[in-house]
Amino acid sequence: MGTALAQVELLSDDFQHDPIPTLTYHREHQPVFQAAEIPAYVLTRFEDVLAMRNQEIYSMAILKAMRGEIDGPTMIQMDKEEHARNRGLISVAFRAKVINQFAETEIIPIVEDLLAGLAGRRQVDLNEVFCEKVPFRSIARLLGLQTDSEGALSELYRDQIAFNPLQSGEEEWNRSIRARDGLTELLSPAVERTRKDPRDSFLATILRSETKGGDKLSEEELFGFLRFLLPAGLETTMSALSNAIYHFLSRPEVLELLRNDPAALNPAIEESLRWHAPISYVTRMTVQDTTVAGVDIPAMSVVLGSLNAANRDPDVFTDPDVFDPRRSPNKHIAFGVGVHTCIGAPLARATLRIAIPRLLERFPEMTISAGFEPRFSGAFDNRLTRLDVDLGPVRTA
Ligand code: HEM
Repeated sequence: MGTALAQVELLSDDFQHDPIPTLTYHREHQPVFQAAEIPAYVLTRFEDVLAMRNQEIYSMAILKAMRGEIDGPTMIQMDKEEHARNRGLISVAFRAKVINQFAETEIIPIVEDLLAGLAGRRQVDLNEVFCEKVPFRSIARLLGLQTDSEGALSELYRDQIAFNPLQSGEEEWNRSIRARDGLTELLSPAVERTRKDPRDSFLATILRSETKGGDKLSEEELFGFLRFLLPAGLETTMSALSNAIYHFLSRPEVLELLRNDPAALNPAIEESLRWHAPISYVTRMTVQDTTVAGVDIPAMSVVLGSLNAANRDPDVFTDPDVFDPRRSPNKHIAFGVGVHTCIGAPLARATLRIAIPRLLERFPEMTISAGFEPRFSGAFDNRLTRLDVDLGPVRTA
């Protein structure tokens, strides 16, 4: 790796809390820099991150090497034909018809139930009581699990993500491997039930999915995909929800806009995703030598495409450091680039579009708690550590 490249501590608290000044500096002066803690190149310009969709240069092999055995065969670790086949078979379940029906029958009741449970409360950590619970319960329903399995699912999930290649060792590895087997065991009855009684559902759609030639997901691929739904969809959606609520509550003019114009909701959500991407980087390994912004990157290098840096690139976004809830066009890449672009984006958007207006309507006088000091944390998926709000005085009808 070239010695002239600057190094940035991606794991430092300050960088995690507010990476934008550092990222902006580098995007302007040295668009490729080096991570201080791991041998990785970080790309900051929109066009360079977008170019990471080129599968002839950038591969998912790094993700497979780090977590392949824990996660089993799953889309995010696959390249080219294998990826296209898996994604093709699974994408039918993320079509608008399936997601809209799921939103109506599952997400709306989950949100309303959680909001009803907050009646009479004032000071709460919204991350804990709402932002995490909405996607958790919703993904449990996607997996065909009922409320009585949620405790077991939650514990298995904690173990599943215990292993982090940067910071953990054998004990965490063993916990994650055990969680893989535990999750397969927990999910098997729901899969069997759905096979016997295939009503219209997300799970039933995947189980039915096959190509014209009769190709279907193998059992391994099916469970690999199902086990990956929580790691892919939980903290990301939680973070998107929490960030959006925080950004709206801390800008009275945006709240006002949302209250007066329902059509303002969708662009405001997109702006929040641009402003603060829940996943900080797309991670790839180069499979051939390449040159980015004048920097030679050899084959077999780890490359991190900074979504936050790209989403503030003035070559693509006018006044990128202004939070503009009406921004249009807004071609942010918080959901990634190329063939691996988030398959769950329609579900995440549906969740945000259902949860936010209902929350604001139920608690019209909600404010950020006095004295609350926001702290963003997490190297790769970055979020507010908590979101303290005052839900406002109880309203009598
Ligand atoms: C706001 C919430 C979400 C954000 C910001 C987000 C972000 C992303 C990003 C950036 C990627 C690409 C990663 C890469 O290329 O390295 C991705 C992929 C993926 N996401 Fe999401 N995601 C969200 C919600 C969800 C949900 C709710 C699900 C499913 C329940 C989901 C399932 C997936 C899957 C399966 C992939 C891999 C797709 C592939 O490899 O083809 N995501 N997501």
